[in-house]
Amino acid sequence: MSNLVDFSQSSFWISAASIVFNPTFWNIAARQEYHNKVITKLFGGNSRLGCYALAVTIFSLGIFRDYLYSEALAAQPTHPTLLSPAIHLSAIPLFLSGNILVLSSMYALGVTGTYLGDYFGILMDAPVTSFPFNVTDAPMYHGSVMSFLATAIWKGKPAGIVLTGLVAVMYTIARQYEDPFTTMIYQKRDEERKKGGKKAQ
Ligand SMILES: *[C@@H]1O[C@H](CO)[C@@H](O)[C@H](O)[C@H]1NC(C)=O
Repeated sequence: MSNLVDFSQSSFWISAASIVFNPTFWNIAARQEYHNKVITKLFGGNSRLGCYALAVTIFSLGIFRDYLYSEALAAQPTHPTLLSPAIHLSAIPLFLSGNILVLSSMYALGVTGTYLGDYFGILMDAPVTSFPFNVTDAPMYHGSVMSFLATAIWKGKPAGIVLTGLVAVMYTIARQYEDPFTTMIYQKRDEERKKGGKKAQ
């Protein structure tokens, strides 16, 4: 293992830390918003502005995480098997499909739908069932994992595959928090709609 992944590189652990930090941060921030309106208060009561600010923050953290990942891979040993043409080239369709999943789900959901708007009370009229949500239930997460894996393969870095595994674990944990919470928020809205008749938006 030691010749596959160099665990003595601090950049490896810094990348791992940012992979763990990001979904942890946005889940804590979103819950604080839902329960205490922390972000909305920070933006003078404007929940839409608060959600945009969170979106910019999460997006920037994502860019930074990608940068740290790339820096970490640069310091890691390369494995020749991953650079054999068939495996090396498989990274291209993997990267493209991953990015199609991420970008098309952002397009389908919009900014507030992508970045936890439901925690701000900004709900969609109905769940999105169009592409890519008819292909996978969590296109953003699956697409992101595919892009991480593609980068690891393309650069021939076993350490990248390990870090991709960590991304997948973090998203699995995040979904266990997010999915039931989102379902609950929409159930509440539907109940209020029934009670309030046409009053609910
Ligand atoms: C998903 O929807 C798209 C159009 O939005 C369609 O072209 C595609 O065939 C659908 N895929 C599945 C698996 O239903």
